[in-house]
Amino acid sequence: MRAILATEQGAPARLTDRPDPEGAAVTGLWSSLNYKDALAVAGQPGVLRSLPMVPGIDVVGRDDAGRTVIVTGAGLGERVDGGLADRVAIDPSTAVPVPDAFTPQQAAAIGTAGVTAALSVLAFERAGIPDGPVLVTGAGGGVGGFAIALLAAGGREVHAATGRAAALGDHLRALGAAEVVDRLPAEAGRPLQRAAWAGVVDSVGGGALVNAIAQTLPGGVVAACGLAASPDLPGSVLPFILRGVTLAGIFSVDLEPQRRAEAWELLAERIDAATVDRLVERTIGLEEVPSAAEDVLAGRVRGRIVVRLTA
Ligand SMILES: NC(=O)c1ccc[n+]([C@@H]2O[C@H](COP(=O)([O-])OP(=O)(O)OC[C@H]3O[C@@H](n4cnc5c(N)ncnc54)[C@H](OP(=O)(O)O)[C@@H]3O)[C@@H](O)[C@H]2O)c1
Repeated sequence: MRAILATEQGAPARLTDRPDPEGAAVTGLWSSLNYKDALAVAGQPGVLRSLPMVPGIDVVGRDDAGRTVIVTGAGLGERVDGGLADRVAIDPSTAVPVPDAFTPQQAAAIGTAGVTAALSVLAFERAGIPDGPVLVTGAGGGVGGFAIALLAAGGREVHAATGRAAALGDHLRALGAAEVVDRLPAEAGRPLQRAAWAGVVDSVGGGALVNAIAQTLPGGVVAACGLAASPDLPGSVLPFILRGVTLAGIFSVDLEPQRRAEAWELLAERIDAATVDRLVERTIGLEEVPSAAEDVLAGRVRGRIVVRLTA
């Protein structure tokens, strides 16, 4: 098989020929380049638990029964060889049939980013957030883009926070954002600020997350799903004990089959094909993965990079 292979920490992963995997496997059709994949491909520590390993946390493939399925997370490209290959071993219990609403390529474009955004919205729905606008941080990224589209399609007024307001304003409004605002300060401010948000989807972390919590309405929910700026949480418990704000952790890797199915149902219900296409910045071949990973880490990408796995 052809695969991107990481062999050594500190060295970029490269396209190589490898023996096919044994056991249950799919023929890889499409993958995507998530933030985690970019770190792994660039040779940075923290994603791949052992080496050598094939990165790639998402794969869309055809199984031996001829079904087209998608696997997101489930240890791919972290604990076991991942999706940046044309043959990928999978645990069949983690595979979801590609919903009729999407082509296989669009399903890969949604991938972990879309599932993570959907889990955040499902956390809001379970908690029953108050009326009012919602905030999406890291709006120009994959998780942020799907969160905007899902929340707007659900009838929420979405405020999109981005460091690229001038360049991405029209794009974010086309996804459904009512307002495009600058990033929240990276430095944490007062623990209780003017309350504005019924819910927040945050993929940034650090002081910006603390400021978002400090601006959340009583009874609101903040879905913490990422650390694009920082893994720190330099804050106060006051919003939790004086406003009843809930901090909901979002973990998309290991999910009960029922939770995966719910996330894909929500995506199929609220995201149309044109929105997925709008969120795809480019489609690349396996050989272009190392240079695209550099663009992801440099913050130059808007939305999603889809990877074609067939030659
Ligand atoms: N919890 C989970 O299971 C899960 C699943 C998927 C992803 N994640 C995490 O979620 C985060 C986002 O993933 P993604 O795939 O959406 O990544 P992405 O496409 O690279 O987007 C990240 C966005 O964060 C913003 N950002 C980057 N650096 C920043 C900084 N220093 N300060 C403030 N904002 C910054 C940028 O948005 P603007 O340019 O618009 O400001 C960027 O587009 C990552 O940390 C990823 O590891 C977690």
